[in-house]
Amino acid sequence: MLYLRTALDNTRVDAMNRKICILGLGYVGLPTASMFATHGYDVVGVDVNEDIVKNMEKGNIPIKEPGLETLVLAALKSNRLKVQAKPEKADVFIICVPTPINEATKEPDLSYVKSATESILPYLEKGNLVVLESTVPPLTTQNIVIPILKKSDLKVGEEISVAYCPERVLPGKILTEFVKNDRIIGGLDKKSAQMAKELYGSFVEGNLHLTEITCAEMVKLMENTFRDVNIALANEFMKISERIGIDVWEAIILANKHPRVDIHRPGPGVGGHCIAVDPWFIINTDVEDTNLIKSARKTNDEMPGYVAGIVENELKDIEKPVVTVFGVAYKGNFRDTRQSPAKEVISILLDIGFEVRAYDPLVEDFPYELMPLDKALDGSDCILILANHRLFNNLDTKTIFSLMRNKKIIDTMNSLSSNWIENGFSVRKLGNG
Ligand SMILES: NC(=O)c1ccc[n+]([C@@H]2O[C@H](COP(=O)([O-])OP(=O)(O)OC[C@H]3O[C@@H](n4cnc5c(N)ncnc54)[C@H](O)[C@@H]3O)[C@@H](O)[C@H]2O)c1
Repeated sequence: MLYLRTALDNTRVDAMNRKICILGLGYVGLPTASMFATHGYDVVGVDVNEDIVKNMEKGNIPIKEPGLETLVLAALKSNRLKVQAKPEKADVFIICVPTPINEATKEPDLSYVKSATESILPYLEKGNLVVLESTVPPLTTQNIVIPILKKSDLKVGEEISVAYCPERVLPGKILTEFVKNDRIIGGLDKKSAQMAKELYGSFVEGNLHLTEITCAEMVKLMENTFRDVNIALANEFMKISERIGIDVWEAIILANKHPRVDIHRPGPGVGGHCIAVDPWFIINTDVEDTNLIKSARKTNDEMPGYVAGIVENELKDIEKPVVTVFGVAYKGNFRDTRQSPAKEVISILLDIGFEVRAYDPLVEDFPYELMPLDKALDGSDCILILANHRLFNNLDTKTIFSLMRNKKIIDTMNSLSSNWIENGFSVRKLGNG
């Protein structure tokens, strides 16, 4: 709200809060903890997963992210960051715990937010600030977090300040984006927002935009929902292009020459822990008024099946076809496989009866066996590209050609250089009729 933005600069917060307790040491919480610790705060990082705590005490950093290990080790060495399984008294509590959806019902699971909030109750004191960073359905802070905080006997608003500050970082660029991105700060009141502004202002170079809590919750969801709907639109354009015989990639580039058009890229489905999940938080809040959002989710969820259909059609004349999936991460140049469409595509192809092998040198952990390149390609009929890792274009195409039984490629990401066609592969691009 505008009133906050104008009034806040004149609101005085008595003292800089120096000690922070951060709940959840995952992709968001661990960099946050280390960033504050290297910017003058004493930070207690808390995780209920004792393996994470034990590993970190030994200097083993659970999250692979460029620059993170150096930052965390610097924070631990400075003694400004310590990790443990239980919270303790602090000036600020920041909650960064998971907020998944139930895969069957698509309803949000807020149990982690509830238990993290409950866990700080014994340590809360007058003057504390509690910040929720987890992505949540609108009204969660007001209807779930604040009622729990009220059990502390302290007056929320008067004695405890509360803010909602969503995280907008991109995995792979988390540390840069932490500092450079603008941040949305939703305050319960002016004092809460001002306290959170001072806190994040200690390292954020982007602008800090102040608003009220529920608006901040909704902003985060709107950002990812916009992207999901845009990708669904690109996927529809892709299917139409296949039907009418044009190249959707060329059409999108040309349409985006319009100064007010920005169509996203089609692909084998939407993965990751944000874009495929966050729209459900809005849908569940208002089932009746979310037809477009629901439809976009359906379109994107159906993409793995659509891609599997293309594979089936392309290989229909081959007996006992062998498919080699290139890239099982949920997007190119990332190692993260959460909600990756590759899992679904592989599962469908196996059900149809294909032999499927998977190759992804960036990924360590995947439900299906990941093979070395030569084993994955030996006697294979088709390379199916599901994540556009840059490194695929550096592979030796002649060696690959010699390993395969049939020289087919299905590229769902429009990612291959012309080198592959020049070396004799037949390339079927998604969205190129
Ligand atoms: N990963 C991202 O890039 C990203 C970006 C923007 C927003 N978010 C949001 O941030 C939140 C956290 O995501 P994440 O990716 O860091 O999750 P994560 O799964 O990587 O880490 C969460 C950690 O919280 C711990 N935890 C669970 N309950 C706890 C409790 N009661 N007390 C202390 N620790 C507890 C878990 O053991 C886990 O280590 C989610 O709401 C997510 O949607 C994530």
